[in-house]
Amino acid sequence: MISQIDKVFEEAQTTISSVSSRVDFDNARSKILGPNGIFRELMKLLSDLPKEERPSMGQAINACKNKVEEMFENKLIEIEGRETTASFGQPIDPTLMPISNEEIFCHPLTKIKNRMMEIFSNLGFSTVEGSEIETEWFCFDALNTPESHPSRDDRDTFYFGKDVSIENVSKKNDEQYVLRTQTSTVQIRTMLQRKPPIRILSPGMVFRRDAIDATHYPTFHQCEGLVVGEGITVCDLKSILDFFFKKLTGENSEIRIRPSFFPFVSPGFEVDFRSKNLGKLSNRWIEICGCGMVAPNVFKNCGYVSDKISGFAFGMGIERLAMLLYGIDDIRLFFQNDTRFLKQFKLSMF
Ligand code: DAH
Repeated sequence: MISQIDKVFEEAQTTISSVSSRVDFDNARSKILGPNGIFRELMKLLSDLPKEERPSMGQAINACKNKVEEMFENKLIEIEGRETTASFGQPIDPTLMPISNEEIFCHPLTKIKNRMMEIFSNLGFSTVEGSEIETEWFCFDALNTPESHPSRDDRDTFYFGKDVSIENVSKKNDEQYVLRTQTSTVQIRTMLQRKPPIRILSPGMVFRRDAIDATHYPTFHQCEGLVVGEGITVCDLKSILDFFFKKLTGENSEIRIRPSFFPFVSPGFEVDFRSKNLGKLSNRWIEICGCGMVAPNVFKNCGYVSDKISGFAFGMGIERLAMLLYGIDDIRLFFQNDTRFLKQFKLSMF
C-alpha cells in the first residue's frame, strides 16, 4: 500500500509540474483530486486491508493528499501571477520609497513646450496639434508661398515623391506629400474647420533638409500661434507677445518688433526680446519670433470672406528658446538622449 501511495504522489508531482495553463490545471486537478480521481481510487483500496492497518494507511493517504493540494495551490498562484503580468506588465514593489520630483527629470524641450502652453492657456488659447505629414498645398500654397519660393526647393524640404499615397491625408493628383517645414500649416487646417473667434497654439515637430551642426538639425520643434476675430490689431499681437516673454523670462524682459517678410502675413514682423535673466546674453536684443497680421490671401484660401475679420499669427522655435533660457550651446544635445545632459533638467525646476 505504501508503495502505491508513493506512486500516486510521484504521478501527481509529474502532472502538476507539466501544468502551464488554467485549462491544464483544471484537468489535472479533477484527474487527481476530483470525485473520480486517483486519490478516490486509493481510498477505495483501504477496504481490502485488514482492519487494524486501515487507520494508519488512511492517515498516510491524507498526508499525501494534503501535500498534493499544497502543490496545486502553489501552481495556481504561479499561473495567476503569469496571467496578471501578461495583462498589466511586471509587478511593482509598493513598499519601495517614492521617487521625489527632485530626482525625476523632464526633457528641456518638453519643459519649454509645457510652459508655453501654460502661459498661453491663461490667455484663452487652446492647443491644437496638426499632422507632421502634410501636402504641398497646406505647407506652402495655402500659406501664400508661390511655387518659386526657395523654401519649396527639394534641397530644403523633404518630399515623398509623386506616387506615394497616404491613408487619411488626402492630396490632389499633381501634388506631393511633404514633411511639414513649419507649424504654420495648422493655421490653415484650423481655419478650414472652424469659424472665428480662434485662439490657438500649436507646438510640434517640423523638418528641413539642414546639414547637422551646433545650431541646425533636420528635425526641430516650433510653436505657432493664431488669433482671428473681429477688430484684432497689431497692438493685440504686440501686447500678447510682450506678456508671454515677461512670463517666460521675467517681468524685466522687453520685446521690440521690426518689419520683416513672411508670405502668409502682411504686414510681417520679426520680434526681438531682451531680458536681464539670460546669463551671458543678459540685456542683448535677441531675434526670437516671426509674426504678422494674417494675409488676405490666406483668409481667402480658408474661405474667410468677411471684411470685419482680422487676425495675427506668430511662430517660434522651441529649441532656440530652450538654448537661450538654459544656456545650451549645441542643438544636437536635445536629440541624443544622454542622461548626463538630461539629468540637469529636474521636473521640479523650470
Ligand atoms: N513659419 C515661420 C518659419 O518657419 C515662422 C513664422 C513667421 C510663423 C511669421 C508665423 C508668422 O505665424 O506670422 O520660419
